[in-house]
Amino acid sequence: MSFTDRHVVLGVSGGIACYKSCTLARRLTEAGATVDVVLTAAAAEFVRPLTFEALTGRPVLTSLWEPGRALAHIDLAKDPDLVIVAPATGNILARAAMGMADDLLTALLLARADRLVLAAPAMNDAMYANPATTANIKTLTARGWHFVGPEIGALAEGPSERPGRMSEPETILAAAERLLGKPPQGNPKSKWSGKRVVVTAGPTREHLDPVRVLTNPSSGRMGYALAEAASSRGANVVLVTGPTELAPPPGLATKHVETTEEMQRAVQALVKDADALIMSAAPADYRPTQLADKKRPRANGPLTVELEATPDILTSLERPKRMVVVGFALETGNGLAKARSKMQNKALDFVILNDALEPGAGFEVTTNRVTILGRNGKQVDLPLLPKRDVAERILDVVEEAL
Ligand code: CTP
Repeated sequence: MSFTDRHVVLGVSGGIACYKSCTLARRLTEAGATVDVVLTAAAAEFVRPLTFEALTGRPVLTSLWEPGRALAHIDLAKDPDLVIVAPATGNILARAAMGMADDLLTALLLARADRLVLAAPAMNDAMYANPATTANIKTLTARGWHFVGPEIGALAEGPSERPGRMSEPETILAAAERLLGKPPQGNPKSKWSGKRVVVTAGPTREHLDPVRVLTNPSSGRMGYALAEAASSRGANVVLVTGPTELAPPPGLATKHVETTEEMQRAVQALVKDADALIMSAAPADYRPTQLADKKRPRANGPLTVELEATPDILTSLERPKRMVVVGFALETGNGLAKARSKMQNKALDFVILNDALEPGAGFEVTTNRVTILGRNGKQVDLPLLPKRDVAERILDVVEEAL
């Protein structure tokens, strides 16, 4: 892991996970970064500035009113390659989402605007589950913040089954490294290095009225795993995702869409200069011909809704000739024949076949069992594996065509 010549601000807000921030500051410094630590007043109650000064070898800032540092909040917003907020308590997320600037850390986050920020939330599980925190994270994500964690595990108040625990310093470091676009670990000669890759994930949603939708149970996990795997091989990945429960992977550009038509527009705009498109999304194939602008009242008796086909993204796409295109085929029987005909009809280089009826495969599970079919007649049958491993194996096969 190398952060040589990187300038990182580590913003520490006041939660018990502060003790792990000391290790994070140390690891960043050891990896070559120049680390400026900014503590909130609450953080300084948990860990004294002196500790961070000793770990980073640099002065630690705790106040907007430091003599001689009148513009510290602007300099520290502008200059660094990355600002990491760890721990990011519920309070700091709320203040940042509101755009408050009532101490040094929030002032520098406000001045940071569209530059890289990575936050590692840490708080009691109920505080994390509170819709206020969810909304704040959503707001900050929409403004371009990246998040790592929180994870499920022991909290200061005891064991918990729900997320709240801050990610370990090594995990935060890995996310930071990915964000800074360092070459992939382990395989500097990766064929994916520098390639522009568009990955779609999740379902799409078609509204019947403002409160009812047609959709499917795709979790998005397969697509997110592919996007992360391609990114860690050094590809320049854009993830286009329908609505899912998953947190956007740190370090990736993520475009959120809702309907199939929105996904089509986003993909069309992105593929113009892409080297590969991996269509793992499950776009809704139909939408109501008429969208009611008010909630349809429940009627006695059956309801008939007329549906029309949504655009088929793969077949409607204008795409560069040399772009490698990977599609998915989720079938419920006679899969090989159907997948082959999809490869033909949708002009795919590869099709990834999985069976929705097979236990452990398809939607809503963390594993998958797929068969990879190539235009050149290649067929690779993979065993049941976690989706991230499936993603790696798919990329191993697809990279032959890059
Ligand atoms: N796909 C697409 N546009 C759609 C629907 C699907 O581009 N409107 C893509 C999927 O992302 C996948 C591939 O086409 O990569 C096959 O999707 P699948 O749902 O298996 O096939 P469909 O074309 O929808 O055909 P059918 O539902 O009849 O099996």
